[in-house]
Amino acid sequence: MGEKSKKRVLSGMRPTGKLHLGHWAGTLSKWVDLQKDYECFFMVADWHALMSEYKDPTSIRETALDNIADWLSWGISPEEAVIFIQSEVKEHLELFMVFSVLTPLGWLYRCPTFKEQISQLKTREINTHAFLGYPVLQASDILIYKADFVPVGEDQLPHLELTRQILRRFHFLYHQEIFPEPQPLLTEVRRLLGLDGRKMSKSYNNCIYLSEEDLVIKEKVMSMFTDPQRIRRKDPGRPEVCNVYSYYKAFFPVYQKEVFNWCTQAEKGCTECKSILAEELCKFIAPKREKKKALLQDRKKLLSLIEEGREKASQEAKKTLVQVKRIIGL
Ligand code: TRP
Ligand code: SF4
Repeated sequence: MGEKSKKRVLSGMRPTGKLHLGHWAGTLSKWVDLQKDYECFFMVADWHALMSEYKDPTSIRETALDNIADWLSWGISPEEAVIFIQSEVKEHLELFMVFSVLTPLGWLYRCPTFKEQISQLKTREINTHAFLGYPVLQASDILIYKADFVPVGEDQLPHLELTRQILRRFHFLYHQEIFPEPQPLLTEVRRLLGLDGRKMSKSYNNCIYLSEEDLVIKEKVMSMFTDPQRIRRKDPGRPEVCNVYSYYKAFFPVYQKEVFNWCTQAEKGCTECKSILAEELCKFIAPKREKKKALLQDRKKLLSLIEEGREKASQEAKKTLVQVKRIIGL
């Protein structure tokens, strides 16, 4: 950590619920891989969560701790990466204010994620001042650490583009180029579908959680949809349309060929195919689940890890803010 030769990465997750296998496949596994090659800052974006959960915010803090416990037990290392909670580093909001005054409203109204979310999240009233500024806060998350790279899914690209627009405007207005232009680290989209074949999401109740118990894993896997045309045991199946097969591909690629063969040649039935997957998933999840339990039981230790992260993040954030305030003369 801290070596000058390493480029810097910042990424964040909103603490809106327990983490599931979709988070692992899409985000967390990538973060784990980045730790060695980059100086990583991984953040719980609790202010961003508050923007949509403000009517019932009481679980945000617990979810934040729960998510961090998952990060740690699934391989994020507090020695390699800086793990922290956004709201504990106050400088994010100060830089947010600076960026707010120079960001034209049009940029925000035009942001595709804003338009989308407003139309999708009908159950929550997010037509608010803060929510419009969502990408501005995200820009300050990234730029307060002068991050070189931001690992994001494609859905977040407009926010990264806005971050670059904001920093260019800052550079243009104050004639000092202090921020590197952050580049996306596009994580190849390996979208894991839920048990029912729809997007994995807690609101569809189709998730396998990262701390799921063995019995529940088995029950859930056995309930998965398979190739609908494979009705009898002796019918050959079509792995390419079967969600169970995509789980093998995502988590146990060594099985891929074998499953393809037993499916297309009707050597094994779907029940057996699923129970093997369930066994493997249990073996995969159990050690991390137990590690997480231990972490949550030793709350003091967990909190002190988070405090260390806050300390390291604050140090960097303060440097940038001092520089920014000097430039604008406040
Ligand atoms: N908007 C991101 C998401 O919903 C979370 C986030 C907040 C973030 N700040 C960030 C991601 C900074 C990357 C960098 O997924
Ligand atoms: Fe899917 Fe396995 Fe059944 Fe083939 S045998 S259809 S891969 S569950």
